[in-house]
Amino acid sequence: MNLRAGRLGKKMSEDAATFTSSLEFDKYIFEADIECNMAHTTMLAQQGIIESSTAQEILGALDDLKNEGIDALDMDPSVEDIHMALENYVTAKIGKKAGFMHTAKSRNDQVATDLRIVLKVKIKEIQKDILDFIEGLTDFAQENTETVIIGYTHLQHAQPTTFAHHLMAYAHSLKRDYERLKDTYKRVNINPLGSAAMTTTSFPINRDITTEILGFDSIMENSMDAVSSRDFIAETVFDLAMLVTTLSKICEEMVLWSTHEFGLITISDEFSSTSSIMPQKKNPDVAEIARAKTAVLYGELNTILTILKAIPYTYNRDLQEITPHLWNGVETAHSTLNIVRDMVLSIKINKERGLELARANFATATDLADIIVREKQMPFRIAHKIVGRMVTDALASNIKPEEIDQTFLDEITVEITGNTLGLNNELISKALDPLENVKMRKVTGGPSPEMVNLALKNLRSYLKNEIQYLDS
Ligand code: ARG
Repeated sequence: MNLRAGRLGKKMSEDAATFTSSLEFDKYIFEADIECNMAHTTMLAQQGIIESSTAQEILGALDDLKNEGIDALDMDPSVEDIHMALENYVTAKIGKKAGFMHTAKSRNDQVATDLRIVLKVKIKEIQKDILDFIEGLTDFAQENTETVIIGYTHLQHAQPTTFAHHLMAYAHSLKRDYERLKDTYKRVNINPLGSAAMTTTSFPINRDITTEILGFDSIMENSMDAVSSRDFIAETVFDLAMLVTTLSKICEEMVLWSTHEFGLITISDEFSSTSSIMPQKKNPDVAEIARAKTAVLYGELNTILTILKAIPYTYNRDLQEITPHLWNGVETAHSTLNIVRDMVLSIKINKERGLELARANFATATDLADIIVREKQMPFRIAHKIVGRMVTDALASNIKPEEIDQTFLDEITVEITGNTLGLNNELISKALDPLENVKMRKVTGGPSPEMVNLALKNLRSYLKNEIQYLDS
């Protein structure tokens, strides 16, 4: 079928055809386009707009195409896009009657519908893999509720925590990334079909029927909006850019923690490479590449928004240029997610090093001050001063936290307040011991094993519900 025969005298130049064709990336919507045409044809017959026998023939040809696959289509750029290639296929099969399938339908509402159909599936696939990562993190955390590590602020030793608490921080960031997609899904799951070119049609179509057949939640209520909006794409790609940002932050820690200086983790060989000249090297390349993939997502988001910003209502061909950036964003984010999940879940944590670092820099000092306040009813500012001096003196004389005792603290307190402190050794060592210190942080959201276990329980029940939602 030559679409141009009516209005246009000349064929498009070969260069112009290649320049404007979307066939290359239309492969993503091949199956959705069959589905969309089937739903529309079925509805046309049900509404008595086309003969039921014609509809049967069209549906039969579409069914054949489904079985034969995309290779059965003539994908020459002169065909323009998948919608025309598909119509040409049906025409070759059943002749002129194929033309009836395009009654009351435009490529404008068709492509918007197809994109939504495919994106719904892709979003759920990614959501499923996020849940899978979170589940892996909960198992990993469960084994490490008493594995003490040092926590950082400003990348300086701050306070002890546990490896489980840290992994749960990852899990909760990912949970929000998951929820963002879940929310976006609602705005993807609406049906533009029936909007035709931009103002619907004078044929008595029934949009409820195609909405039902295609499994959309509801109808897009304004046909001009329906054919020209791509905000559902922009927000999906933002969600993915945010997801990859979460992953990149995790990867940054994998890179740091696997250095000799940190020595906290070992990344499995399966996710590492070596150097072509330095035989001793083991490099965290997966983490590094994943970190760089954020740039791809930010680029795609920026491209999409920039294409969208000055498009007059309604359909403009610029919109087609958004599509490859969507699919590249989706695929990049998805593969990054899965490889980062596999890498992170393969790491080995060096527990001794975790404890060593947690003990190294008086990271428990805040708690000693708190205990002085509680036990000795001393104002926090004075306690702060005593402990500050204690750290300075200990560092100057190379005294480790576990060596600090009542006498040591009393000497300092006498100097500062004129009186001894009298805090017993048991309390001092409890305050300064990283694990004991962590155990005292029993506030919701805190690192005590008790609290992390509760958080794990909550997260597991969340995962169970969400897995059910995704399967529904
Ligand atoms: N390939 C086009 C796209 O992706 C389909 C719609 C074409 N519509 C048109 N009026 N040329 O946007």
